[in-house]
Amino acid sequence: MSTSGKSAAEGFTRGAESYDQAVRHNISGSDRLIMSLPEGDYRKVLDVGCGTGWTSAAMVRRFSPARIVGVDPSEGMLEQFATKLGEEFPDVEVELRAEDVMDMGVPDGAFDAVICAMALHWFADKPGAVARMARALKPGGVLAILTAGRGGEDAWRELLERVDAPAAWTGWFATNQRDVDEMDADLRSAGLEPLDVWMERRRRHTDPDAFMARTRSVAAHLLENPPGGYSDLDQRIERGLHGAAGPDGFTYDYCKLFAVAQKPSE
Ligand SMILES: C[S@@+](CC[C@H](N)C(=O)[O-])C[C@H]1O[C@@H](n2cnc3c(N)ncnc32)[C@H](O)[C@@H]1O
Repeated sequence: MSTSGKSAAEGFTRGAESYDQAVRHNISGSDRLIMSLPEGDYRKVLDVGCGTGWTSAAMVRRFSPARIVGVDPSEGMLEQFATKLGEEFPDVEVELRAEDVMDMGVPDGAFDAVICAMALHWFADKPGAVARMARALKPGGVLAILTAGRGGEDAWRELLERVDAPAAWTGWFATNQRDVDEMDADLRSAGLEPLDVWMERRRRHTDPDAFMARTRSVAAHLLENPPGGYSDLDQRIERGLHGAAGPDGFTYDYCKLFAVAQKPSE
């Protein structure tokens, strides 16, 4: 596993129990992604960076697959996934693999659909990860990706710069966000035919404390909080959020990039 993949996974394990509550507005993004897949018989599904299982749950509700393989290096997220899918959909066969996307031991050409929601931006090698996921598809299978879109979160990045967050964090946005053209190119390089690639931009006015809770859940590995306490960086960010908040709270734009692509039939 890459160093960045490992530390992100450790952070997600620390935030696993609070994850659903902290980023609950992302659920509708997963639902829209799955609703954008073409009609089909998706019996075998691979969910990469599967987290707590929202996107797989959306897949089950729409297509009733027989089997889902969830891949995620975070054991804490996999535990939440197993509980959620087991309770809601006991008839679906679930296999969970604690692996990095680049090392996943899943067979090539085996899946009717590969889904990857809000995870690609954590992967170090994005074109390589898209190619690895494409390889896992059967001919005619569909890859569906939801990731951070370029141009979002400028207000958040500027706040991080003001409180002297490390360059690894402030530079994260330029490195990890994706634009429609970049995604289209990655899909084509992986031998897929893009069907639908689009960006959504939304403006959020959020309570600074709620935003801080979300940050502690999704970016725990960047905050470096000690067990049961808060790092100096965490405290600077919390003060910065309260300072930046106006009457409507902390305001920032957020972009999400959606992509649906198909592997050509043989
Ligand atoms: C923001 S969560 C998204 C989870 C879920 N797909 C959802 O939509 O709620 C990102 C997930 O990607 C996982 N992840 C991070 N780096 C990874 C990697 N290199 N390979 C596979 N998964 C990774 C994290 O552990 C985390 O569970």
